[in-house]
Amino acid sequence: MKRHTAKFMLALSFIAVVLLAARPDPIKEKAKGLKDYYSKFFSIGVAIRPTDPSNHDQRTLILSEFNSITPENAMKMGPIHPQENTYFWRDADSIVAFGVQNKIKVRGHTLCWHAQTPDWLFVDSAGKDVSKKVLLQRLKSHINTVVSRYKGKVYAWDVVNEVIADDSTYFRKTKWSEITGEDFVEKAFEYAHEADPKAILFYNDYNTEIPAKREKIYRMLKNLLAKGVPIHGVGLQAHWSINTPSREELEKSIQLFSSLGLQIQFTELDISVYTGRQGGQMIQGQGQMQAAVFTPEMEQKQLEKYKMIFEVFRKYPKEITGVTFWNLSDKYSWLDGRGRKNFPLLFDTNLKPKKAYWEVVKF
Ligand code: G3I
Repeated sequence: MKRHTAKFMLALSFIAVVLLAARPDPIKEKAKGLKDYYSKFFSIGVAIRPTDPSNHDQRTLILSEFNSITPENAMKMGPIHPQENTYFWRDADSIVAFGVQNKIKVRGHTLCWHAQTPDWLFVDSAGKDVSKKVLLQRLKSHINTVVSRYKGKVYAWDVVNEVIADDSTYFRKTKWSEITGEDFVEKAFEYAHEADPKAILFYNDYNTEIPAKREKIYRMLKNLLAKGVPIHGVGLQAHWSINTPSREELEKSIQLFSSLGLQIQFTELDISVYTGRQGGQMIQGQGQMQAAVFTPEMEQKQLEKYKMIFEVFRKYPKEITGVTFWNLSDKYSWLDGRGRKNFPLLFDTNLKPKKAYWEVVKF
């Protein structure tokens, strides 16, 4: 009897060992990051602040999940070139050094934009608008200085950002267009190409799944390419929400832009849990009074949206060369700065993967 019991126990332990071995090991599974799940598709990036790598847990998360970084603000004209003869390199340098030391690709963002521009840029010493010639000279000098400094370290640049209007007009009215017309766009690409002929150059914009804006961006890119302007990719920012975009519109954008022979990157991905905004713009009066709670309904809708967009991304591995999240985790996101907390990313406020994360890597 005793012998039977011993045999039975032995058999039980054997079955237990076999069962345990067959079970996916959560520790091993988590040793894989987004970049590993997607290694056959495209790089997976994240926009960071210079302080992110100094925080132990955030640094660990960046290194385990991502193989590309973008400085969220540090390379923009205002922060990096505050006065005509003064550059502020510290923050951008530290992010680039972090990327280089850890063999993570660095995307440069952004060389020419209407926002976060320094005060001196458009005016002379008397405070009057500068001429087109002077503004283009300033643009050339800025681009040449910044791109040359990071030559061989920054593999791709968002050269021009957001010049197409959201309303029914074509070109966004800014100081750039007021002084130079549309010419600054092609000039910016030429200057960047001259400074680093190997860098991959992107035009970057949001609301690219809204048909009217998509058509206008397509038209501009087509014209630039027809003129031989050195442009290699289009950055679709992907500031989305739990309601937008639809699968159909997303696929249409990928197909239309790649038909131009341009590579596609989703450069600023986040999925707002509020529905009252589109792209970079807030729709006034909607969704502003929501409580700062990540409700089960938001969680479910966001998870479905993340699942759907990554299904679409995986359909286009030749066309898409990178997907970058705009911030690391829900602990901090640029979307928080609108009077309410948002929860737009794949990692929660404690840097732990959300349910949506597991949907993104399940394929
Ligand atoms: O650095 C100053 C700091 O010195 C000051 O004390 C503080 C007070 O508000 O402001 C700090 O600057 C802020 C900066 O972020 C750094 O935190 C600016 O006010 C704030 O406007 C700026 O916001 C950035 C925004 O671009 C500017 O338009 C966001 O962080 C950044 O995520 C966002 O990123 C843009 C992309 O570059 C282009 N596409 C849209 C996207 C979202 O708007």
